[in-house]
Formats: sequence, structure tokens, C-alpha cells
Amino acid sequence: MKIFLFLSFLCIASLLQAQDKIILADPEFITGNNDHWKDISFDDSKWKTIRPNILWEPQGYPDYNGYAWYRFHFRLPSSLKDNSFLKDSLRIFLAKIDDADETFLNGEKIGATGSMPEDKEGYIGAYNVTREYHVATASKFLRWDKENVLAVKVYDGGGGGGMYGGHPYIDMIDIIDAISLTLQHAVEKNEVSVIITNQLGININGNLHLQIKDRKNNRTILNKNISLVLSPLKSAYKNIEVPEGEMELSISFKEKNTGKIKSLVYVMPYILTPLPGDVPRINGAKIFGVRPGSPFLFKIPVTGKKPLLYHVDNLPAGLQVDAATGIITGTLSNRGEYKTQVTVTNNAGKAAREFTIIVGEHLSLTPPMGWNSWNCWGLSVSAEKVKSSAQALIDKGLADHGWSFMNIDDGWEAEKRSADSSIYANEKFPDMKDLGNWLHAKGLKFGIYSSPGTQTCGGYSGSYKNEVSDANTYSGWGIDYLKYDWCSYDEVYKKEGDTTLAAYMKPYRVMQQALKIQPRDINYSLCQYGMKDVWKWGNQVSGNSWRTTGDIEDTWESLSSIGFNQDKLFSYAAPGHWNDPDMLIVGQVGWGKPHPTRLTPDEQYTHISLWCLLSSPLLIGCDISKLDDFTLNLLSNDEVLAVNQDVLGKQARRIKRTATYQIWLKELEDGSKAIGIFNLGETYQTVSVNWHEFGISDNEKVRDLWRQKDLGFFKNNFISNVAPHGVKFIKIWK
Ligand code: GAL
Repeated sequence: MKIFLFLSFLCIASLLQAQDKIILADPEFITGNNDHWKDISFDDSKWKTIRPNILWEPQGYPDYNGYAWYRFHFRLPSSLKDNSFLKDSLRIFLAKIDDADETFLNGEKIGATGSMPEDKEGYIGAYNVTREYHVATASKFLRWDKENVLAVKVYDGGGGGGMYGGHPYIDMIDIIDAISLTLQHAVEKNEVSVIITNQLGININGNLHLQIKDRKNNRTILNKNISLVLSPLKSAYKNIEVPEGEMELSISFKEKNTGKIKSLVYVMPYILTPLPGDVPRINGAKIFGVRPGSPFLFKIPVTGKKPLLYHVDNLPAGLQVDAATGIITGTLSNRGEYKTQVTVTNNAGKAAREFTIIVGEHLSLTPPMGWNSWNCWGLSVSAEKVKSSAQALIDKGLADHGWSFMNIDDGWEAEKRSADSSIYANEKFPDMKDLGNWLHAKGLKFGIYSSPGTQTCGGYSGSYKNEVSDANTYSGWGIDYLKYDWCSYDEVYKKEGDTTLAAYMKPYRVMQQALKIQPRDINYSLCQYGMKDVWKWGNQVSGNSWRTTGDIEDTWESLSSIGFNQDKLFSYAAPGHWNDPDMLIVGQVGWGKPHPTRLTPDEQYTHISLWCLLSSPLLIGCDISKLDDFTLNLLSNDEVLAVNQDVLGKQARRIKRTATYQIWLKELEDGSKAIGIFNLGETYQTVSVNWHEFGISDNEKVRDLWRQKDLGFFKNNFISNVAPHGVKFIKIWK
């Protein structure tokens, strides 16, 4: 594997003192809609309060979709303006809102994102857009040194509803906002370049503080202050050499006039996964399900020096394997279980493993592994982008570790259907069938996206009343996977006025039937954000997976609140149907504007380890053509991935939870156990796993899964030092 030389990283965080910022907390809240609720004089004292950084559904409003209002009361001190060097604009930061909002300050509209059902354009959701509205300080409606009311009207078209994803605040737009701190990291040189840019047309003076700390022993390696004069619209560059190890780099710029600070913290990525050896190693799923008569496609994932020679003994009649590529194709008509023996050889050696084929009704006997366009490309996905990630999946060796699905999310559909009501793709996808053939020839699978409503969440044609026709079209294109996203189905559901569980399940049943009659296997991925406890009935509509939460983003807050809240669902995961806590957020992500993930390296190790323990579908959400070595290390550790692909198909259970750490355990087919020891705190922690506390017998053999290294026998317990937001991922057996 070639070492990828350059990793670029951008992170801007601002540290403002409390007096420079008004934290908007404890708003009054009500569901429903009334125009008077924007007025400053309105009496909201009878309303309830709510937290504005968490969606409303988990806060006592289950399954509520529709209108609601938040009202924040706050004092606007003139000192805010006095302490600011630039005095023109206030920033109203609201984080994200699910789905559309109109925002009023003292009755005046100051911003709107998405649109409401009553608007000319009709309802357009914008759940994934950060709201930051600016207000001129000269505005007559501002009440300096008095009480003000910020009223946020929200319309939720489906899902969790309301404000989320950060803590809302108000501050002044100041000279510090014209400073950007960017960091570039040439991994193999262990050198970091800090770029400080002045985006204003005046000189900016200040102090740059650089610090390097060794996180293992908390030792400060570098502590340096540099006084800087940044010329108008110019950048200054500083190169820093960083020693080997788990180093943390803190950089801050303190602006001289205001004392306001912009800062970033960067943990140097450290690679744990050993490179694959020359000798062949067979990876990925050991079992594969197919329906009788459906086209069979499975590429045996193998690492080792190329060329490799594949051979399969006891392959049932109807199937053939390509000796040079390891792609098995054909069809099987008879139900049953077929045990085959795969052998792969090269000039360095040989590997053999059993591979079981089950011909029956069940697909997805292990969680699907692949790629989805959404977290990276958002609605700007195109055939070119799918192809470049698919090609990179092969060229960078990911396909050799079992990654196979290439799923197009929202944004492929034409805005209107053809005269006979058939669905077709927009100009970004000139030939879907050709794309399918191209993927299949490489042994990859082809996935697509739609909604049971009239429109998808991105505003494209949904499948409502065209389900069979759409499923037929998908089949014709060679589709292997459908993600079916609730989106605008809420309108249909409301119009029909039936609030029973059956009414919620109905659209998924309709597509279930449409998929069932297709002459090929289409994995069915339900996406409706966990409404009505989908894990309890997803299996009844033949869902191979179901989203259990709203959308994930590349922050620790999002990752940890989703990932560590899946424990109650463990009994619903099993071969053929999986809980889906959403797609991966490592690598270059960004929903149309890709940037390096904002997760620290430790948070990324936590993400992959936890998703493997949860038996979650693993869908890479980044631009694979831009994959750096660190991300490749996260996605190519066969011992870690084997925990996800284990044929027993059990989901891990949380066996211990304290305020700062959690221990999760997954039982594996061979009698061993995978254990994740997660540090949710902000500093290193020593955690002991005491065997007897969890009914585990004495003297366990322990293997470090990320390092692929045996650690020896441990009599009573296993003690490890775990990085902040990081994980120790082990396997234990007798
Ligand atoms: C959301 C869904 C995302 C993505 C998006 C497309 O509802 O949760 O994963 O599919 O729609 O518009």
C-alpha cells in the first residue's frame, strides 16, 4: 500500500469570553402556529421550556411533526457593542433546525431557511443547514439594555423536529471573524503548516500561541508565542515539526484590540492498522444470502500480493468463479444451504476459508458494507463522482476488505416523470443501466434512493403511486439496494388522517411488495429516522436495515449521542435485518462541500469500533478518491471489520456505564467476545474490565484488534489507558 503523502486539515473554532456572547438558553416552547407568537408583547408565561440544542421529539413530543415556536427572552447589553472593534452587525447563531424556520427579533423577520407549506414555493425542508442570521446594530427594533424576544417559527415535515446540533447564541461580528486559521499536515514529514489569514482590508495585530503536548504523559514539547502583524488580505505561514507519537497541537491567535481569540486543537493522526502482508488473506462476509433465480454477484475479498488465483470447491451448479478476479456469478434455482471452500494462491502463499451460500428469502445475512454519496456530495452527486469513488474503492484496496455497495443517495432523479409516469435520471446520470453494468463488472453492487412521498427530501420525484413502476425501472438498471426515505410522505399520511401503526407501515409495505416481484435481489433500507419504533416492525416489511435516528454529522456531539444510545435496540438486530445508526463520517465529508471530518483521530477510532460492535450497516460517506492513509487505516482493518461481519449477527450490549466511560461487549460466532472500552471524558482514563463483574471466567487471552496484536493472558482483569473520546478495542477468548 502506497503511503498517501498529504493530508490537509481545516478547523476553525472561536473561543470568546462569556461577556462577548449571549447564550440563548431555556426558550419557551409550544406546538402549533399563530402569527402573534412573533410579537414581543405576547405573553408566553404559560408555555413550557425546552432545550434548544436537542430535537423536540425526544423531549416529550414523540412523533410530533408540524409547526412549533420557540421564544427566547434575553437582555441585549450595549457593552456587547462597546467591547467590539467592529460595531456594525450582530450575529444570531441558531445551529440547525429540522426542517424549515422563520426567525423574528422583536416581531421583525430577520431570516428564514427552507420554506413553509403556506409559502409560494410550498414546503422545502432544510434540516441540514446551519442558521446564522445577521442584524445591523443600527436596526430600530433592537432594544439595547432591555429585554428582547427572539421568536423562531419551525415547521417539521417529518423526523425529530426543531432546533438541534449546537447551542444558540448572539454575539457581535468582530475583527476576529476576519481571521482564519488553517492547518496543513504533510503526514510522512511529521510537519504541520499553520496558515493565518487576514480577510480584512486593514492590518490586524495579535499574538500567535503554539503548543505541542504529548498526550500520553501530558508533557509540553513546545510552547511558543509569536507576535504578528497581518497585512490586509494576506496570509502568514508557520511550519512546525511535530515529533512521533500521539501529539496534540494547540494554536490560537489573540487579536490585540479586543483580546478576542480564535483557536484550534489538532490531534496528529496515528495509524494502528498494520499493512496487509504478501500472503493471501480472505476477508469479508463468510455467508451470503440470495433468492432462487436472482442474479448472483459476489466478489471474494482478498488481500495479498497480486496476481491472485481464486478457486472454489463445491460451488453449486449454476455458479462460476472468475479465477483471476474472484467474482462469483450465475443463478441458483434450488433453495438450501451450500458450503463451499475458497482457496486463493499467489507466489507468496495460500489461504483457504469456508464460504456458505444460503438460497432462500433472506438477503443481508451480514451488515451491508459499501459507500453512499450523501455525507460527501449531498445533492450534487453525479455518475462521474460515483465512478471515481468506485474506482478508488478498488484501486486503494478497499474492495479487498469486503466493501462492495456503491449507493447513490438523493439527487439523481429528474424533477418530472415521463408522460407514461416512468421515473428517469437527471442529466448528471446520463445512463443508469450503463453505470450498473460498469459497477457489476468490477464485482461491486449498485444502490439507489427514493421516498414513498411525492417528493424526496431534496425536492426530487418520490415514488408515491408509482412504486411498482419505479421498482421495475430499478431492476432494469441492475439496482441491488434501495434506501427508502420517508420525507414528504408525511403529507400523505396527514391527509389520510389515519394515525395507526399500520398507516405508518403502509408505504413501506407497498414498496416491499413491489420489490418482492422483481427478478433480482434488492436490499431494502428503511429510512424514517426511527419513528414509531421501526425496529419493532421493520422486519415485517422485509426491511434489511432501518435507520434508528435522525441524520448524523461529523461532530463528537452527534456521533456520541447517536452511537451510545443504541443499547436498547440490541435484540432487534439479526442476520437479514440490522439497526442503522446512519452512515460513516470519516474522511472528506460535507454534504456537497467536502472538508476533512471534524472528528479527532480518537473519535474516528471510536466511530468505527462502535459501529462494528453495533452490527450496523457500514456505508462510507466520504470522497474515496481523496482518501488519506489515516482514513484508509480506519476502513481496512480486517480484524475490526470481522466483528461487524460476524455470522452470528448479534449486536453488542452495553455492560458498564459510568459518567465518563462505557464498556460494550459483542458475542462472536467462535465463542470469543469483542469488547469496546470507550472513554467519553476529556482526559486520558485508566479503565479496568474486571472479568468476574461480567460473568467472564478467569484467565482470558486478549488481542488488541486495531493493532492486530496478542497482548497475552489476563487473569482477573484487563486494565488500559484510553485516550479522550477514544477506544481500546479488544477480543477475548479462552
Ligand atoms: C434525509 C436522510 C439522509 C439523506 C437525505 C437526502 O432524510 O436522512 O440520509 O438521504 O434525506 O435528501
